[in-house]
Amino acid sequence: LTEQWTGQFCASVNAEKREKVVKVLKDLVLNADDVAKIMKVFTSQMDLANGTDEGKRKQSDLLMDNTHVRCLMDGTESGDYLGLDLGGTNFRVVLIRLKKGVAETTMDNYTIPSDVLCGPTKGVFDFIANKIMDFFEKHDIDNRKEALPLGFTFSFPSTQVALNSSRLVTWTKSFKCPDGVGEDPVKLLEQALQRRGLADKVDVVAVMNDTTSTLLAGNYIDKKARIGVILGTGSNAAFVDHVENIERWTGDTKDPKEVVVVVEWGCAGDNGCLDFYRTQYEKEVDNSSNHVGSYTFEKSFSGLYLGELVRLVLVRLTQEGALFDGNLPQSLSETWSLTTSHVTEMERDESMSTMHTREALKQLQMTSSEATEDDVAIIREVAAMISRRAAYIVAAAIAALVNRTQLPDVTVAIDGSLYENHPKFHSCMMDILNTFCPKSRVKLILVKDGSGLGAGFVAVSALKQNAAQLR
Ligand code: GLC
Repeated sequence: LTEQWTGQFCASVNAEKREKVVKVLKDLVLNADDVAKIMKVFTSQMDLANGTDEGKRKQSDLLMDNTHVRCLMDGTESGDYLGLDLGGTNFRVVLIRLKKGVAETTMDNYTIPSDVLCGPTKGVFDFIANKIMDFFEKHDIDNRKEALPLGFTFSFPSTQVALNSSRLVTWTKSFKCPDGVGEDPVKLLEQALQRRGLADKVDVVAVMNDTTSTLLAGNYIDKKARIGVILGTGSNAAFVDHVENIERWTGDTKDPKEVVVVVEWGCAGDNGCLDFYRTQYEKEVDNSSNHVGSYTFEKSFSGLYLGELVRLVLVRLTQEGALFDGNLPQSLSETWSLTTSHVTEMERDESMSTMHTREALKQLQMTSSEATEDDVAIIREVAAMISRRAAYIVAAAIAALVNRTQLPDVTVAIDGSLYENHPKFHSCMMDILNTFCPKSRVKLILVKDGSGLGAGFVAVSALKQNAAQLR
């Protein structure tokens, strides 16, 4: 396991500055003991959340929610299904046409305006209903006789009541609606569809988290996929568990003996159990975030925060006199100005090239005279260090989950812009999984648009489950 600090990009930087960089970056090193400890914390937090003792369950931040999804697709399914995907700043509508398990898909993306993200919940659902209407008109599907079964990916912490009913626990990420907590997103959607005159065109048969839909979309491609992970704006995981492993299981124990469980790991550490590795930068990110004191784990690595973590380290290095001659450029002085896409751009540089780092700085409106060659080398070092640290942290949690499945071969289906676009995340994560999951062969696969496509697949499995129960 290589530690994050390699110093390779800073080799030619003047010795005094280099020393300062080493001093600051030292605090960010996550060694093998830290990784093992993160795994241990996750394992025990999952056990606590799984148990029947209410007092112990409260000691865990994890929801470990039973999704009621108990069957995966088997490749024989046919029919038309609709998927909705709400969770990041984009909203997606997907039409899936299945013929004997082979899917043909049509998908549209819509950006949610910031006033909708912070306005009343009703506005969010009206926005969704309007876009479904646009989608129907554009693809000429509004004149069908039968209602289309719809699966709704709603990626916020929720407690699942039934396949098609859940309760919102809290808004997260960029959403800051003043109401909606405790409400059922399916009811809110149905009411908005009603207002838009779409009530008899769609039938909401399932609501799920994006990790569940990604898992089902991954399993459609690779039958060994038993874990679904989101590595995008936020992060979370779901996995297929045996009902006999779930102490507090209250459902039917007859076939099928498995169920998808959502870990809801973004909020791990809200109780302080991850404080041992957190740095001042994570605490500063938390203070400037939309939801202070919550979603601690996510703030160490997910797409909404990674850029800001890099910026904060650059600010610190400037204060120490190691960067920009001690004068912070305007472009870096504002919170959130450096985004994760700037970091992924910087990380495209191979060996000693700095072309992409310079390109990212240009996108940040930094002039070439503002950043000297030493500055660029140091910035590159910081981007590499924070990225690798982030990948190690999330991979430690995945490793705990892989070990929990006890399978010799496990595929982890991953969706999300961070995993998709960051050129080095995958291999850094593999370093951890290869070292810390000695009993399993682990494969990480990108399931592009998995959370949208999977929404349709969950609708398929919900209908199959309902039909099986009627038999
Ligand atoms: C946030 C949400 C969680 C979701 C994840 C990825 O952590 O709370 O439910 O799965 O983001 O989108």
